[in-house]
Amino acid sequence: MKQYKGEISTLPPDKSIAHRAALIASLAEGTTEIMNFSGGFDNQSTLDVLRASGIGVVQENVAVSDGTVKRKVVIESQGLWSLKKAGRSLMCNNSGSTMRMFSGILAAQPFESTLVGDSSLMKRPMRRIADPLRQMGATIELSPENTAPVVIKGTRDLHPFTYELPVPSAQVKSLVAFAALHADGETRIIESLPSRNHTELMLGLDVEELPDRKRSIVVPGRRPIAARPFLVPGDPSSACFIIALGLMNPGSEIMLRDVCLNPTRTGYLDLLQKAGADIRTENTRETGGETIGDILAAYSPSMNPLSISEPATVANVIDEIPMLAVLSACMTEGFSLHNAAELRTKESDRISAVVSNLERLGFNCGEYADGFTVSGKRSAPKGRVPVESYHDHRIAMSFAIADRALSADIDISDAGIIGVSFPNFFEIIESLEA
Ligand code: S3P
Repeated sequence: MKQYKGEISTLPPDKSIAHRAALIASLAEGTTEIMNFSGGFDNQSTLDVLRASGIGVVQENVAVSDGTVKRKVVIESQGLWSLKKAGRSLMCNNSGSTMRMFSGILAAQPFESTLVGDSSLMKRPMRRIADPLRQMGATIELSPENTAPVVIKGTRDLHPFTYELPVPSAQVKSLVAFAALHADGETRIIESLPSRNHTELMLGLDVEELPDRKRSIVVPGRRPIAARPFLVPGDPSSACFIIALGLMNPGSEIMLRDVCLNPTRTGYLDLLQKAGADIRTENTRETGGETIGDILAAYSPSMNPLSISEPATVANVIDEIPMLAVLSACMTEGFSLHNAAELRTKESDRISAVVSNLERLGFNCGEYADGFTVSGKRSAPKGRVPVESYHDHRIAMSFAIADRALSADIDISDAGIIGVSFPNFFEIIESLEA
């Protein structure tokens, strides 16, 4: 078995923050410089739809003081109503964030737009975006299954309203906020379970605490947005895979530099620490409203199985669940997840994707509508084990990490999908091989 040792300063920039930085830049007055933007397909899809809508976007590589090269994106806009009608359908590829969050902006434009995606995105639920935008006065058409194509007949006359989120979704919260920036008055978005709060932080929105641990996000309408620079920290959801590599392989110790440590994203670090993992955060500091810092992860042979069921925890670790499940299964032959039906609506049905792949690797799983369990002794298969990515970057990466920790010969279909969020995934792993 290999050891993985070293220090990484080239994690992909945070995908959620980068999408938002580009979208906010398209609404700002002036020139926005976004430092450390991702070359991953998802973030590039957001730049593509902005360009197709007449927004000036330039990318260049810049050498920075730590010796690494970062991607800088410069976006020019004249404020809230700068978008032009695209001459074709807007292709969002695999990126649900692009399709959903950009819909909020398009709903406020006085023209018709159509958003489409790849085979995975065309199956994902879109009623959650249509409902609030219809309430604000836009006309939204979906397929009979309430999926894309999303046809938006936008209006300059969106109404402000109070919207209680029916699902804990940061994408829906953000698209309502982006639409509300154009509305004629103040909108309130109420969430009962906290989801990632980058949009609130980046737009400087007021957040009021309500009874029953609910929160109300206040979005002022038609207030000009001044262009300002953004610096994107490392993606904690990408870090999770490299952390798992460190925790699972004897003798490993990995330091990840400049990772976003926003508490709405780092629930997985707490879960792992409580289960006995050797993880530390260091050098924690504030940059541009976000907490960032370094993460040190070392081989952790005596971990306990992970068990995830509290709805607030599920919402916090939603993108990390595939890796957490695979890690817990490989290290302890145990895992349990409940209250996570939302996982079935991601880039793949991540409950059945993880279960079917773990079963191929000889684990005993039980699958439920809202989660799954792993228990009992694994019976390791002989020879090559074909594992399906289901065209889902996080499924492919979770099992690529399992491949290095189990002495199994795992063959992952369609591993190129990893480029959606982590184009240098295999390069980083190789650089850590001691
Ligand atoms: C995201 C929110 C989450 C997450 C996705 C990114 C975001 O989706 O799964 O990868 O950047 O707002 P939901 O809003 O559907 O929960």
